[in-house]
Amino acid sequence: MTVNSLMQAIADIGADPIRGGYSRPVYSDADLTLREWFISEAQTRGLDVETDHNGIIWAWWDRQASAGESVEATRRNSVVTGSHLDSVPGGGAFDGPLGVASALAALDELKAREQSGALKRRRCLAITVFPEEEGSRFGVACLGSRLMTGAITREKALNLRDSEGLSFGEVAADHGLTPDLIGEDPARLSTIGAFVELHVEQGRGINTPEYTAADGKQPAVAVGNTILGHGRWRLSVTGQGNHAGTTLMDDRADPMVAAAEITLATRNTAREHPGARATVGRLQPIPGGTNVIASRVDLWLDVRHPQDEVTATVVEKIYSRAKDCALAHGCQVEMVEESYSGTVHFSPELSSQLEAAVRRTVPDAPILPTGAGHDAGVLAAHVPSGMIYVRNPTGISHAPEESVENDDADQGVQALADALSGLLEAER
Ligand code: HGY
Ligand code: MN
Ligand code: MN
Repeated sequence: MTVNSLMQAIADIGADPIRGGYSRPVYSDADLTLREWFISEAQTRGLDVETDHNGIIWAWWDRQASAGESVEATRRNSVVTGSHLDSVPGGGAFDGPLGVASALAALDELKAREQSGALKRRRCLAITVFPEEEGSRFGVACLGSRLMTGAITREKALNLRDSEGLSFGEVAADHGLTPDLIGEDPARLSTIGAFVELHVEQGRGINTPEYTAADGKQPAVAVGNTILGHGRWRLSVTGQGNHAGTTLMDDRADPMVAAAEITLATRNTAREHPGARATVGRLQPIPGGTNVIASRVDLWLDVRHPQDEVTATVVEKIYSRAKDCALAHGCQVEMVEESYSGTVHFSPELSSQLEAAVRRTVPDAPILPTGAGHDAGVLAAHVPSGMIYVRNPTGISHAPEESVENDDADQGVQALADALSGLLEAER
């Protein structure tokens, strides 16, 4: 099956009729259906599939073990590729699933190469699906890879809650995980000799005049070099709930008005720091009635910058301005950091291997930074990690207009297969 037919097969799963695009929160019916789809596609390919203590799915293409060598021993220092299947609310079709589908299609290509003798494998290959990459349900991005690497404690993770108040611990247990076993997993981590994630490009890095040839053509893929540092903070603005009709304007302590000014201050503060991005994409008034002055408003900041110290400065400034906004409206405000990842520089050695491999299919493939976080970014602190991006003509992501052209997706698979075959033939 080609990557495009694999993507076609899941095109209806989790489609969101209200927001448009897809809403596939982790462990929702849509996400569970996608996880089953992946497992069945992997098993059809004869892969040995297991789900680990953190809910990460591993589909193994084992190599011939030498005499007396255990399977565990053969799997140490393997080549691993994969991505995620969960989405943001109303997200695009490709963010996550393209990497998983491309890995399956690349495996088909690699099996054919091994069959024909063109590939002499020394390592196992695993395709992985990481849960809760978007952090859309429990608030922490890349929760699965953070748990495996110890970037988040078991205790903090188990107590994360979704918008219904369900804890990650409860939901994980409902889906077959054992809360006491969730957490850092060095044994699993030691199976990863190199991790390569293929992902739809989120932005217009490729789709710019710099990379557009005279005939209008642009490279189908790019290789990643850095990921912008980024974090999430929750601000809770409290005021006085009251009746919308009987409370005069001068008698109000309205947290919604303070929150509106904080949102504006967020935008203005980011603009004072070139390269900074700061967003309020989620705001939750409590109780949230049309004829009710809210008693509290929670809003979430997403702040990013290539330099971690600038991110910290931007956040500090936003918080200090938020306190002024709250005071001006007789309200209070508190801020809690929910997650943070510093700027990631992918392994230069692996990135240059990816560049050489990818350029066999796409000679003018550029090297690009990205403002989007990925599990590859979390893993990069522990194992050699790298990324391949597939051109997105709209450059839009986390929205229904995210797009990838079939031919570019096919070239992405070839580039991924070339990158993986080089790694699979290398000495362990
Ligand atoms: O938010 C991000 O950067 C990623 O898409 N999870
Ligand atoms: Mn993603
Ligand atoms: Mn995303």
